[in-house]
Amino acid sequence: MAEVKRVGMLTGGGDAPGLNGVIRAVTMRCIEDYGYEVVGLKRGWKSLLSPEDDTVMELGLDDVRYILQEGGTILGSSRTNPYKNEGDPERVVKQLEEFGVDALVAIGGDDTLGVAKRLHDDFGLQIIGCPKTIDNDLSATDTTFGYDTAVAIATDAIDKLRTTAKSHERILVVEVMGRHAGWITWGAGIASAANVTLIPEVEPDLDEITNIFKTRAANGEKWGLVAVSEGVTFSEDFVTQNAEKDEFGHVRLGGVAEGLANELKERTGIDTRHVVLGHLQRGGTPTANDRILSTRYGLRAAEAINNGEWGKMVALRGNEIVTVDLSEATDETKTVPRDLYAAAETFFG
Ligand code: F6P
Repeated sequence: MAEVKRVGMLTGGGDAPGLNGVIRAVTMRCIEDYGYEVVGLKRGWKSLLSPEDDTVMELGLDDVRYILQEGGTILGSSRTNPYKNEGDPERVVKQLEEFGVDALVAIGGDDTLGVAKRLHDDFGLQIIGCPKTIDNDLSATDTTFGYDTAVAIATDAIDKLRTTAKSHERILVVEVMGRHAGWITWGAGIASAANVTLIPEVEPDLDEITNIFKTRAANGEKWGLVAVSEGVTFSEDFVTQNAEKDEFGHVRLGGVAEGLANELKERTGIDTRHVVLGHLQRGGTPTANDRILSTRYGLRAAEAINNGEWGKMVALRGNEIVTVDLSEATDETKTVPRDLYAAAETFFG
């Protein structure tokens, strides 16, 4: 095991409120408790394939002390995949050497952590992972930071839409992020008392939804709110904005709320509108819970470096922050179990 003097840190994939909390905690513990130097590597894995003048960001205590409340990531992010082109993984390793980085903290979702695992397995890189996604769909950890903030934002938005839906006697269909897992929609649907909550895990029954709104209208409530995950499918296919894919092969979702709003208007005769919450759910200041969780992850990640727990990632299990094998991050997508969805269904109508 090579001695650690200089720790590098990068953030990859979609940003999530709380990323700066991890960066702050890793930096402060690494410097104060272990005496390491810390550098940020800007723009995710891209920092190691196409470095720019500002790629290496020296991080001192004063650079991070007050970033806990800030959304986004001071290190920037990208969806660059170093395993897409032959020879790139070797370039990543060489670039890390040139930057003098002998331990790396990779903060990201299953794509970023999948790359971290392969770099560890293939080259013995001294890597620690930290899970991140607003979607809360990583099975290796009970929850991820950013999720609580995203649910709070979506809940607040649906609460606000309720008043205008009532005033104008409309059905408002709200599109919430969540590609394969409907956690944000599930949480916000319950918390905002939406009339219908639809998640990718359960194929929606259009007749049932139509009846819900027809019955409400017959009882004098000619309005309603539907929370729908962007990844909900009415047949086999995703509703997508275009055919473009990112480097990890993901298509850009979007449009399910509009299609559903049109369909409901046709079927119920009630006026409808749709709203896409989109990146609003990833922006702004993290909730107190996300600040605490990201801080705990960061502190434990720094400890893992000091212990030499290479190839591991930090995870929340119950109330403990533990380390687990990086492969667990990519093992399977954590979806909403059927019985939890039933909690939302109880309030349909
Ligand atoms: O991975 C998190 C996520 O927020 C998904 O819910 C969403 O589909 C995607 O990112 C959007 O990504 P982008 O920022 O590339 O548009």
